[in-house]
Amino acid sequence: MSRETLIDLFYLFSATTFVLALKGLGSPKRARYGNMVAAFGMLVAVVATFFKYVDGHPLHHVWLILLAMLIGVLVAVPVARFVKMTAMPQLVAIFNGVGGGAACLVSITEFVHIKASHPATYVTLEVLLGVLIGTVSFSGSAIAFAKLQELVTGRPITYPAQQFINAIIGAGALVLIVVILVTGSEVLLWILLLLAFVLGIAFVLPIGGADVPVLISLLNAFTGLAVAASGFTLGSNLLIVAGTLVGASGILLTRLMSKAMGRSLSNVLFSAFGSVITASGDTTRDDGRTVRSGSPEDAGVMLNYASRVVIIPGYGLAVAQAQHVVRELAEELESKGIEVFFAIHPVAGRMPGHMNVLLAEANVPYEQLIEMDEANAELSTADVALVVGANDTVNPAAVDDKTSPIYGMPIIHADLAENVLFLKRSMRPGFAGIENELLYNPKTTLIFGDAKDTLTKILATVKTG
Ligand code: TAP
Repeated sequence: MSRETLIDLFYLFSATTFVLALKGLGSPKRARYGNMVAAFGMLVAVVATFFKYVDGHPLHHVWLILLAMLIGVLVAVPVARFVKMTAMPQLVAIFNGVGGGAACLVSITEFVHIKASHPATYVTLEVLLGVLIGTVSFSGSAIAFAKLQELVTGRPITYPAQQFINAIIGAGALVLIVVILVTGSEVLLWILLLLAFVLGIAFVLPIGGADVPVLISLLNAFTGLAVAASGFTLGSNLLIVAGTLVGASGILLTRLMSKAMGRSLSNVLFSAFGSVITASGDTTRDDGRTVRSGSPEDAGVMLNYASRVVIIPGYGLAVAQAQHVVRELAEELESKGIEVFFAIHPVAGRMPGHMNVLLAEANVPYEQLIEMDEANAELSTADVALVVGANDTVNPAAVDDKTSPIYGMPIIHADLAENVLFLKRSMRPGFAGIENELLYNPKTTLIFGDAKDTLTKILATVKTG
């Protein structure tokens, strides 16, 4: 068997592991295993590549490649190990951005190489698409990172005729690609690079912080496509397969998230959602209705009398890092014969599967995590719905108020439970910036304070009750 065939077989093996890994990532139970399978497949592919002959020669610059890999490992391993759960979306953003940037660099190198070795040959479309998509992904991800890290405001940044200007930049980039295809001009390649860089930034500015995960998923799909384009450029089947898998899964995930928010992708990308805050922040409404607040001790007593409790976690649980204490509370209630389950909204938190990952980290059994539709069917039989740092995902306006910006978003119907305990720090709204009617519902008791502190006090009361 020739060296090339053997390497191709290793690549085929790697591509298979990537597909198996995606299957594993489909469920929280097998996600860790899925990741390991993909990492192993990638290791095999990287090692095999070192034995590849390019144009009849062994790989050049092996030491430089190894040095670059070492730097990558030294940076990425500590960052990935010590990142906080709340900072995970920005980590994904930055990793995705460097992937797009790398795909762009491969395309530029190939362009320069083609022009130097065969000046008469015109470059091919995939090289230029690699530059465009890879750069948009790079600069867009950098801004997404800055928004999530709060280096710039998380609220949408808008200005007059923004979408029109963006459309002009996008159209300009496409025209440039056509001109470069015809003329092979290297100068225009650099202008394309600059335009793509600006486009990535301009595209992301009007998108609000909590919508950024959808954007990152889309940019991730772009990176996949840029990698697949590099695969065509370099004649690498593995890159084509891996890039296409990333592209396809990124697009599917983007669609799933938009659907779970009851919004179209164009609404997420172009509506500057979250820029208008309409919630008054008052404890009393214009019609005289007022919120009822209580103490953690009141909440503990109520829970002790319950026989069925549904815990509904949201972004505030992650902010407060209250996953361990909420697990302890659930265990304590169960030890008293009170049935407990967690109702998980698909877009609760700030990234896909945020609540599942957070609660898994605290060893909450998977069987206690119930998906939204199933949970909604059970909620009317619950004595208490304990809302911990969730807001938009339990807002009845999504069902009742046709004028609401979140109208149509599927929600967890906490209001169906006999009582609602609502844990948050203030009357500030959730990401959507709108009033939550559930706070004024006579069934609801608000327990103001940081979720971790409040839950710790509730747990103490439950223990003594
Ligand atoms: P949000 O509606 O954003 O509400 C979070 C709540 O947590 C706020 O009411 C906040 O109130 C409270 N909070 C924050 N820190 C807290 C702390 N330390 N202790 C106690 N409470 C705290 O969250 P959600 O219900 O999870 O909804 C997610 C939102 O993100 C939705 O609008 C969704 O469409 C959007 N989104 C999510 C995703 C994904 S994939 N997850 C993607 C795109 C968009 P206080 O400030 O008063 O404490």
